[in-house]
Amino acid sequence: MKRLAHRTALPVRRAAALGSLAVLVGVLAACGSKSSDQPKPPEPTLKDGAPVVALGDAGLPTLPPAPPLPEVPAGLPPVPKIAATPELVALGELLFSDPRLSSTGTLSCASCHDPAHGFAGADRVNTAAEKRNARRAPTLVNLAWQTAYGWDGRADSIEDLLATHLGGQLDAKLPDVIARLAEDPVIQAHFARVGGEQIVPALVAYTLTRYEGAAPWDRYEREHDKPPELVVGYGLFMTKAQCSVCHTPPLYTDGAYHALGLISVPDQGRGMVEAGKDGQFKTPSLRGAAKRQGFFHDGSAETLDAAIDWHLQGGRGAGADPSIIDPALRPVTLTAAERTALGAFVAALTAK
Ligand code: HEC
Ligand code: HEC
Repeated sequence: MKRLAHRTALPVRRAAALGSLAVLVGVLAACGSKSSDQPKPPEPTLKDGAPVVALGDAGLPTLPPAPPLPEVPAGLPPVPKIAATPELVALGELLFSDPRLSSTGTLSCASCHDPAHGFAGADRVNTAAEKRNARRAPTLVNLAWQTAYGWDGRADSIEDLLATHLGGQLDAKLPDVIARLAEDPVIQAHFARVGGEQIVPALVAYTLTRYEGAAPWDRYEREHDKPPELVVGYGLFMTKAQCSVCHTPPLYTDGAYHALGLISVPDQGRGMVEAGKDGQFKTPSLRGAAKRQGFFHDGSAETLDAAIDWHLQGGRGAGADPSIIDPALRPVTLTAAERTALGAFVAALTAK
């Protein structure tokens, strides 16, 4: 797949128009010229009383130290080697919800991958170019353990995915994004700190370090006193209901592709990458699923319960195409109590 031209570090563009901050450079430079034995001048403040942003040597704001990389929560395997530094993640966090990434200035990554709902979308939404998406934005948690990206796994890395995703979803061209960000001294200070306009590496570092773990079940699993309903739910998940065949612990995904008979939107899925796999999509992790507001690649299930019930019917709900259903997905009949217990177990895979 085509790589982005802007992956390498570019010289940081000095913001020509620093606005009011330019005045402050003068103020601080004047302070700096005083000899050290003189009493320290009072902290300069703006007219409205807001504290002044300290400016570094390059005339850019001094950033607070980047927080350390997030720790991998309990219940997850050791994290594979990932290209993330605290500084890249700090920049990535800002860019992730910055609408200046889109041509229209209206859409950011967070508009579709909602951080408040597991970095997933509720339903299919329009791209910045007003095209209807065929797919719902999947969750971005625990991507560090994945090896293929997109519902169809067509990209080998997040970097590869973003090479087309930035244009496809945000209608963004990197040179235009860089030009729009040139006016922002804070972003420029971040660029200076990471050694260039590292937009894609920063977004990759941020998304790769979104972890979802430390769920109630991770704690109970190690304890003797497990809530009886969760023990029943776990047993069903692992055996009778066959969920673990595809949603394999501890990540609760097998990283593979399966067809559940969902055809509300014409979509070849994995078939676009591998012949004979039409209608198959990547198994989403069930960690954090209770935070999401929409389910399945086409957003056709509005609730977690509806998604679970679709599986229990063996993918044979209204409007399904039985001819493309994975043989591992079989109809399962549960008692009302068993169904409740299975739901409670799936919910216990989401941190409170
Ligand atoms: C308009 C909605 C939209 C916007 C904006 C958007 N995405 Fe996505 N994202 C999607 C959809 C839809 C998919 C699924 C793509 C596919 O399967 O082809 C996706 C997939 C992904 C994936 C792959 C996840 C996986 O499990 O394989 C990553 C990573 C990602 N997006 C990151 C980002 C980042 C970073 C941004 C901001 C630069 C962004 N997205 C902006 C809708 C969006
Ligand atoms: C044959 C493999 C397979 C089995 C068995 C299976 N799943 Fe799934 N599951 C998938 C795949 C693949 C998807 C995504 C399908 C799509 O969106 O097209 C999925 C999606 C889901 C989702 C929606 C997640 C999201 O973010 O969209 C939930 C919830 C879920 N499964 C729960 C379960 C439960 C509970 C069971 C057991 C009753 C189960 N699954 C059994 C493969 C499987």
